[in-house]
Amino acid sequence: MDITLSVIKADVGGYVGHSSSHPDVIQKAKESLERAKEQGLLIDYYVTACGDDLQLIMTHQQGEDSEQIHKLAWDTFVGCTDVAKRLKLHGAGQDLLSDAFSGTIKGLGPGVAEMQFTERTAETIVIFMADKTASGAWNLPLYKIFADPFNTIGLVIASNMHSGFTFEVHDVLKSKKITFNAPEETYDLLIFLGSPSRYALKAVYHKESGEIAASSSTQRLALIAGRYVGKDDPVCIVRSQGKFPAVGEILEPFASPNIVKGWMRGSHHGPLIPVSFREARAIRFDGPPRAIAAGFQLANGKLIGAADLFDDPSFDLARQQALAMADFLRRMGPFEPHRLPLEEMEYTTMPEVSKKLASRFQNI
Ligand code: 13P
Ligand code: 13P
Ligand code: MG
Ligand code: MG
Repeated sequence: MDITLSVIKADVGGYVGHSSSHPDVIQKAKESLERAKEQGLLIDYYVTACGDDLQLIMTHQQGEDSEQIHKLAWDTFVGCTDVAKRLKLHGAGQDLLSDAFSGTIKGLGPGVAEMQFTERTAETIVIFMADKTASGAWNLPLYKIFADPFNTIGLVIASNMHSGFTFEVHDVLKSKKITFNAPEETYDLLIFLGSPSRYALKAVYHKESGEIAASSSTQRLALIAGRYVGKDDPVCIVRSQGKFPAVGEILEPFASPNIVKGWMRGSHHGPLIPVSFREARAIRFDGPPRAIAAGFQLANGKLIGAADLFDDPSFDLARQQALAMADFLRRMGPFEPHRLPLEEMEYTTMPEVSKKLASRFQNI
């Protein structure tokens, strides 16, 4: 059975500030997707939030980039924005950068990760969702999951993974893409993945079979809007078990937190903390950046789940380490490298401040 899994997300208003989502907004989204399920457009759906980002997880048979599915997501976000406006939530409609839908939701603000595949006897899926960070944040964990044998022992000892994976990397500034095979081209791959603000890992494929293994959202809000509106807060779908990494191999990179861009005003470096659904609220200094992991089994397109995969004591130490990293970085206040480097501040609110002071600069 061919299934398309679409994860489409947007910040349509925060409660309180940019910290979390209001239950009425989530309820409105559920009602909208329930109608689409009754009408037969969706097989199933799961609605949740990560911080102030509303997440629509949908299964259907319309394929990727389906106008009908994208329109459903857009109309749902617009309806939820009305609720957010009525409650006067913060930044109501923040990520909806257009007045009208035209064929695809791509380029209108929301983040999109989709994949089409033939459902296996047991189709295990992990969906990562983040708040207070930028697309590209999955580069490091996806590299570890699909190319690092110290993370994924299956690359070494499982014959169906031993030949490796293919990585599709997008240059988000120049709108170009390139693919690399790992392990053969690992060093070439890492040159680009190591600069996640320019090169985002879009998809991963099982090399031998060509089957899709992972897909992430790479939309850049600031590049679409031409100004700072909020962070991308990306999502990522990973298939698991069989010829793909085990659930534990997919979660393992988050046991040693890495540093990502985002946090307060989208202008800082901070640790990406793996948290439970309940703790997916951006609180201290509007953060620190957070990731949740929702696990599902698919049953003829029905979403069996979600299992809250980071809700486990085995990630407590990672959380503690992330908090220590957060403390350490916060000491630097407005100084780099806590604050983002100058060239990246040009995509936030800094140009407005520098413009005001421009006339006071004198030649030396
Ligand atoms: P089970 O024997 O419980 O299926 O586990 C197999 C496995 O590979 C765990 O990583
Ligand atoms: P969001 O991108 O999650 O809305 O956060 C924006 C922000 O400015 C946080 O301080
Ligand atoms: Mg927000
Ligand atoms: Mg957000």
